[in-house]
Amino acid sequence: MVWDHEAGGSNPLTPTIQHRYKIPEVKNKNNNGVMKEATYRMYRKQVLVTGGAGFIGSHLTRELLQRGYQVTVLDNLSTGKIENIADLIAKEASDSKSAGKVNFVHGTITDLPLLQKLFQGMDFIFHQAAIPSVPRSIKEPLVIHEANITGTLNVLLAARDTKVRKVVFASSSSVYGNTLTSSNGEDIIPNPLSPYAVTKLAGEHYCHVFQEIYGLSTIYLRYFNVYGPRQDPSSQYAAVIPLFIHQAYHDDPLIIFGDGKQTRDFVFVGDVVDANILAAESDATGSFDIGSGERTTINRLAELIIELIGVEASRLYKEIRPGDVKHSFADITRARHFGYDPQYSLLDGLKQTITSFFHESRQG
Ligand SMILES: NC(=O)c1ccc[n+]([C@@H]2O[C@H](COP(=O)([O-])OP(=O)(O)OC[C@H]3O[C@@H](n4cnc5c(N)ncnc54)[C@H](O)[C@@H]3O)[C@@H](O)[C@H]2O)c1
Repeated sequence: MVWDHEAGGSNPLTPTIQHRYKIPEVKNKNNNGVMKEATYRMYRKQVLVTGGAGFIGSHLTRELLQRGYQVTVLDNLSTGKIENIADLIAKEASDSKSAGKVNFVHGTITDLPLLQKLFQGMDFIFHQAAIPSVPRSIKEPLVIHEANITGTLNVLLAARDTKVRKVVFASSSSVYGNTLTSSNGEDIIPNPLSPYAVTKLAGEHYCHVFQEIYGLSTIYLRYFNVYGPRQDPSSQYAAVIPLFIHQAYHDDPLIIFGDGKQTRDFVFVGDVVDANILAAESDATGSFDIGSGERTTINRLAELIIELIGVEASRLYKEIRPGDVKHSFADITRARHFGYDPQYSLLDGLKQTITSFFHESRQG
């Protein structure tokens, strides 16, 4: 179902929300009676994914549906694409076949009244929406501020007002700046180096304050370099893995900023999705690193992608970009406490990503 809030009209989501907590009667084959409510208390949790048409949000939406959650997506499609979730959007809300499919709302997190309407009856908010680019934040800090800070504050206000059970906030390893050393982790004092990193740190502080003052449960996941299928290589602000794959596939040189010796912690999107769902369902609150726990230099990444695609691509070194950090790797010790256990090696993740890229390229 699609509701284009930006085009106006009434909210068609209300009927779905009213049916929350409906407990089905389950016949027991042995005594032919109705099972006790406590044993068969089954209801579909209502969740909302902001930015659910984006790269990470669309994977999360898919997995939440698979696991039986009732999912609403709110996205303004600024960097996300409707194609990422088009197959999940049911045509008719009343059609029984649509059960378990996504409710899509075209709107923005900067619209507080909209959020207050949509969050009614939600168990969890997975707040993924943001403009996720360091270079763009340097060019357009006000635009990024509006989406990432004002937007996040609105999400928290609406979650507080509607008594949402928990907000899971997509933060970023960029909050660390260059403070990561061999012993990194969530206790290190953040030192953001770009407006984008500032917005993520501000979001975290707001989450913390809303938990302390208003009792809203919040958890903020500091994603490291997330990659996987459907990550857009075409934007001028594209991330390094889709860019390298795109460049190698087109026999272009792989462009490396700096000497390529900088390290990153590349984490497959499937692991990040898992982290989100575990984080929502656990009692954990506060900040957690979400990465693979392994470091890879950009030079090694380029080598791997060239090998996997089987081309002779060259590398073109360019000046390091402002706002880029030298080293970045996650300490996932604390996240393991709520069950996070990354399953994908870089090699496996890259193979899946490249296969899907080839598949999409062939389809045009
Ligand atoms: N990809 C990474 O490596 C990475 C690393 C650290 C943190 N993050 C964070 O993870 C989240 C998801 O990132 P992604 O890589 O999937 O990016 P993405 O650009 O694919 O997804 C962001 C989504 O948010 C939507 N959006 C932006 N502004 C909005 C607004 N005002 N209202 C509603 N929707 C809006 C976009 O249309 C898009 O669908 C972001 O918060 C990002 O900062 C990503």
